[in-house]
Amino acid sequence: MSMFRVLISAAALLTSEGLSVQGPAQPLVAQLGGSIILPCSVETPLSMEELEVEWKRTDEEALVHLFQNGEDRPEAQHQSYRDRAHFFSEQIFKGNFSILLENITVADTGIYRCVVFSYQNVGEISVTIQHVERVVVTAEDPTVSARVGEDVVLNCMVDSHIPPERIDEVSWKKVDKKPDIIPVLLFQNGTIFPGSSHKRYRDRAEFFRQEILKGNFSMRLKNVQTADKGEYMCEVHTENSVSSATVEFGRLGMSALHIITLILCFISLLLTFVLSIPVTVYISKKGRPRIKYAFVTIVN
Ligand SMILES: *[C@@H]1O[C@H](CO)[C@@H](O)[C@H](O)[C@H]1NC(C)=O
Ligand SMILES: *[C@@H]1O[C@H](CO)[C@@H](O)[C@H](O)[C@H]1NC(C)=O
Ligand SMILES: *[C@@H]1O[C@H](CO)[C@@H](O)[C@H](O)[C@H]1NC(C)=O
Ligand SMILES: *[C@@H]1O[C@H](CO)[C@@H](O)[C@H](O)[C@H]1NC(C)=O
Repeated sequence: MSMFRVLISAAALLTSEGLSVQGPAQPLVAQLGGSIILPCSVETPLSMEELEVEWKRTDEEALVHLFQNGEDRPEAQHQSYRDRAHFFSEQIFKGNFSILLENITVADTGIYRCVVFSYQNVGEISVTIQHVERVVVTAEDPTVSARVGEDVVLNCMVDSHIPPERIDEVSWKKVDKKPDIIPVLLFQNGTIFPGSSHKRYRDRAEFFRQEILKGNFSMRLKNVQTADKGEYMCEVHTENSVSSATVEFGRLGMSALHIITLILCFISLLLTFVLSIPVTVYISKKGRPRIKYAFVTIVN
C-alpha cells in the first residue's frame, strides 16, 4: 500500500509537466519614478490551497514579493521592494499573479522571475525590465515665429504617464544669453508664480491653466518684441529627475501695422519729392539762400 503511494508520488513528480504560466511577450520599458505591472498569470484559476507565488530578481537573488498560504508575505520582501511591489489581491483568485512595481528607479532594470507552485506542479516565466526611461519632455514645434506685437505659443508637453502631482516644477527660461538666464514663467508645487517672472515678461507670459492637467505646459507670450527673439527652455523637475526641451523663437516678421506704416512713409516721401519740384525750380531760378533754407525745412 505505502509502496503504491510512493510510486504514485514519484510518477506525479516525473510527469509534472509544469504549469503553463504566461508572461509578457516582450521586454518592458518603465518610466523613471512611475509604476509598471509585471505580468504573470495562468489560464485556469488555481486552488488557493498549496498555492505559492514567488517573484524574484534573478540577477541579484532578491525576493520581490511572495504569496503563500493564501496571503501576501510582505515581511519576506527584500528591503528595496518593501511597499513598492504589490499583488492585485482580487486577481490572484483568477490566476493572475501580476505585480505592480511602483516608484521605479534605474536600479529596477533587470530580469524578474515569477515562479508558481501548486501542489506538485511548478511553472515559471521571466519578465525583463529592459530600460527605465526618464521623464520625456517634448516641444511639438521646436521653432516658432511671430510678428512684433502678436502673441506666440511655445509648446512644451510632459509625457502623459506622469501625473501632475508628481511634477514639482516646470520653468520656462530664456537661455540664449548664457550665463544670463532670464526666468520667464514658473509653475511650482501645483501653483503658478507670475511674480517670479523677469519684469520684461511680467503680465506677458502665461500657462494655459486648463491644459496643465494634461501635462501641457505650453506658454503663451503676448505682444512679442524684437528682444524676445532667442532660445527658450522648458525645464521639468520631478522628485528624481530634471528633463527639458527647448524652443527657438526666431524670425520676427513685420506686423500688418508695420507694413502699412512703411507704405505710408514711402508715399509721403514720394509726395514730398514731387511737391518739392516746383520749389526747387523756383529756387534755381532765383538762387536765394533764404528760400533754400525753407526747402530744407520742408524735407525734414
Ligand atoms: C513613492 O513615491 C511617492 C511620491 O513620490 C512617495 O510619497 C512614496 O512614499 C513612495 N513610496 C515608496 C514605497 O517609496
Ligand atoms: C492581471 O491584473 C492586472 C491588474 O488588474 C491587469 O492589468 C492584467 O491585465 C491582468 N492580466 C490578466 C492576464 O488578466
Ligand atoms: C515647493 O516645495 C519645495 C519642497 O517642498 C520647497 O523647497 C519650495 O520652497 C516650494 N516652493 C514654493 C514656491 O513654495
Ligand atoms: C497645448 O495647449 C495649447 C494651448 O491650448 C495648444 O495650442 C496645444 O496644441 C496643446 N498641445 C497639445 C499637445 O495638446
